[in-house]
Amino acid sequence: MLATHKGMNIDGDEFIAVLDDALEALEKNNIGQREKEEVLYVLYSMKSEIVLV
Ligand code: HEM
Repeated sequence: MLATHKGMNIDGDEFIAVLDDALEALEKNNIGQREKEEVLYVLYSMKSEIVLV
């Protein structure tokens, strides 16, 4: 994940925008609350390998 996004100059707002889109997709597909939290947690955990690297 680091190698892919390195040098792209992705900022925190852009990262959150992707999480927002993921949440929207989860909601559209009626995914349960617990599962939504799990997915967002996993995505959020990648922040340090994507934002401003
Ligand atoms: C948790 C959030 C994110 C995840 C899990 C993620 C995951 C990935 C993955 C798996 C790839 C493909 C890597 C490969 O082809 O080997 C990729 C590529 C890419 N990501 Fe992300 N990404 C995330 C956030 C972002 C954000 C916030 C941006 C920009 C705003 C972004 C921009 C890109 C671009 C432009 C590519 C294409 C690179 C290329 O093919 O040259 N990503 N991402």
